[in-house]
Order: sequence, then structure tokens, then C-alpha cells
Amino acid sequence: MSASELDTLKAELLETIASASDLSGLEEVRVGALGKKGRVSALMQRLGSMPPEERKSYGQAVNAVKVAISEALEAKRATLARAATAAKLAGERVDVTLPVREGPLAEGRIHPVSQVTEELTEIFADMGFSIAEGPDIETDFNNFTALNIPPEHPARQDHDTFYFGEGADGDRPVLRTHTSPVQIRTMLAHKPPLRIIAPGRVYRCDSDQTHTPMFHQIEGLVIDEETHLGHLKWVLEEFCKAFFEVPEVKMRFRASHFPFTEPSMEVDIGYAKVGDEIRIGEGDQWLEILGCGMVHPNVLHAVDLDSKKYQGFAFGVGIDRLAMLKYGAPDLRAFFAGDLRWLKHYGFLPLSVPTLAGGLS
Ligand code: PHE
Repeated sequence: MSASELDTLKAELLETIASASDLSGLEEVRVGALGKKGRVSALMQRLGSMPPEERKSYGQAVNAVKVAISEALEAKRATLARAATAAKLAGERVDVTLPVREGPLAEGRIHPVSQVTEELTEIFADMGFSIAEGPDIETDFNNFTALNIPPEHPARQDHDTFYFGEGADGDRPVLRTHTSPVQIRTMLAHKPPLRIIAPGRVYRCDSDQTHTPMFHQIEGLVIDEETHLGHLKWVLEEFCKAFFEVPEVKMRFRASHFPFTEPSMEVDIGYAKVGDEIRIGEGDQWLEILGCGMVHPNVLHAVDLDSKKYQGFAFGVGIDRLAMLKYGAPDLRAFFAGDLRWLKHYGFLPLSVPTLAGGLS
């Protein structure tokens, strides 16, 4: 190849380098010129078959082209890389002055039942109660028999029970109809003195404006050596005042009957209805909110406690009822319909955690 042909090749290559528009295009040019089978490399390979007197000057000329091309490639590569970085930065630019998008903490809501359960836990924890739990699927023994409701007892008909099929052991599990079986579990697992509450789901085959097949209760149980009705009344009064956040409540203890307590009472709370609003602690209307009583000796015997030494009280409150009363939701079925518009209206902000110091609601 003559010197002028070499110059033409060099000019041509420099031209393609100059017109490469991106890094991958430039890499193609490099391979085509300096790669193993590139045009400049091919010229180098010819050196071996040349007469020695030509070899030196030819070699120098080709090498000069090679150096010029390498330098041009490197310069262009740097320019293209800078341009690529600039384009990337421009494409990913963030406008930090835009308002922050609302995240789940602002959008999400806590269900009133969860909120009220937290409120109740806070109140009873302050009175020294700890939390106990039991499963939704209970044994017949825990849900009925140990609570002084033997098979064939008419009280079994009061609860519209969801029964499971008979197990291999002949036992028929149930969806617990109340949280009272947690009393049994607690007394079987721990020795007195006991002071527990047990919030949870319960099930009865029932459905209308104030009943759903699944609802929530909170059970309370105190067992000690000198527990009496006065303690029960005090606990319930303190609880109502704290829960409804009023200095005084009117409560009415009505004689009632539960197989697992003796004596048994139902408790009504006094309220006034002003327009659509319910005011607790005023007026002369009554609303039933809970059942309670002194634990029946037969229940203590069922868990092997000496009823001469120990006695105590128990109560069961409907959590959904309390939520409806306190937060004015009229239809219980809406609680479990999963309607986001309802939850947006009646729900609570995730960070408004109820505390006695900060306020419950
Ligand atoms: N378990 C009863 C019910 O569901 C309520 C209750 C609990 C009554 C504890 C007395 C004592 O109706």
C-alpha cells in the first residue's frame, strides 16, 4: 500500500470516528480498524512478507496511522461518554419541589373494631390485667361443658352454634360462641391469682341489623382469695368512664342468668339521644352493654380449683357494640362488608394510637 493510500485510509477512518453517534457505534469502528481482522491490523500482518529494507519505513508509516486512529478513538470515546452521562442525568432529573405523594400511612385506616380493642386493652392493662388468648375453633368442653353447660342443657340452645363434624375422638368442635372458653384455658394453664382480659372473634348463626355471624367480645376474669361483687362493680365502672371518656357514668346492674356465673347480671349504661348523637352519662335511656357475675363454683371445680379457697368474677362485653355506641356507626353489618368508603369515614389514622396519656380517641 502506497503512502497516499495509507493517508486515504487514515482520513477515511478518522471521518467514520468523527461521525460515530454513540459508544456502541464507535466500538464497531474500532473493531473494524484495530481489531484482529481490522483494516489497520491487516496492514501490520503484511510486514512479515516484506523485504527487510521496505519493512522499516512501511512499519513506521502504518504504526503512525495506528497511533493516530487510537488517539482519535479515545478522544471520541471520552466525548461520547460525557454526552451519555449528561443525557442520563437529564433524563433522571427529580423535581424536589413537587409535593410529596400520600403514602399508606396517610391513605390507610384502622378499623373501628381494631381501634376499640386497642382502647380496651390500654384501659385494662392500666388496671393490671394481662391479655389471654384462645383459638376460634374450640372444644365442646371449653365452650360449654366446663362452663357449667353440660350436654342437653337448655342453655346450649341460646347460642346458635356452628358445629363441626365429629372428630376421631368423638368430640364435636365448635366455632366458639363466646370468649368465655378462654376463662377455662387460663385457669387450666395458670394458678391464681389471675387477672386477664381476652379479646377475640366469636360466632353465632344469626344475622340482622345488630347481629352478624361473626362478632367480637372481650372477656374479663379475676380469680383470687378475696374477690367479691364490689370489685366487679368498681372495675366495670372505671372501665366505662375511661372508655367513654366521661367523668361519671350511670350504670344499672340487672339480675340475669348465665350458667357459668352466680349471681349473674346484665349491665345497662345510661345515655341520652340528642338528635342523632348518643351521649353517655346523661339522660334516662338504657342500653345493655355486657354480661357478668361471680364465677360459678362448678366452673372452678371443672378446672380443679378449690371453690372454698378461690372465687372471682367474669364479664363479657361486645366490642362491636361498644364501637357502634362510641363512634356512632348505625349498622353492624357494615363493619364487616369491607367497603373502603365506610372505612375511610369510620376508620382511624394508623398513627393515632390510643393511649391513656395521649387520649383514647
Ligand atoms: N359469655 C357471655 C355471653 O356471651 C357473657 C358473659 C361472660 C357473662 C362472662 C358472664 C360472665 O353472653
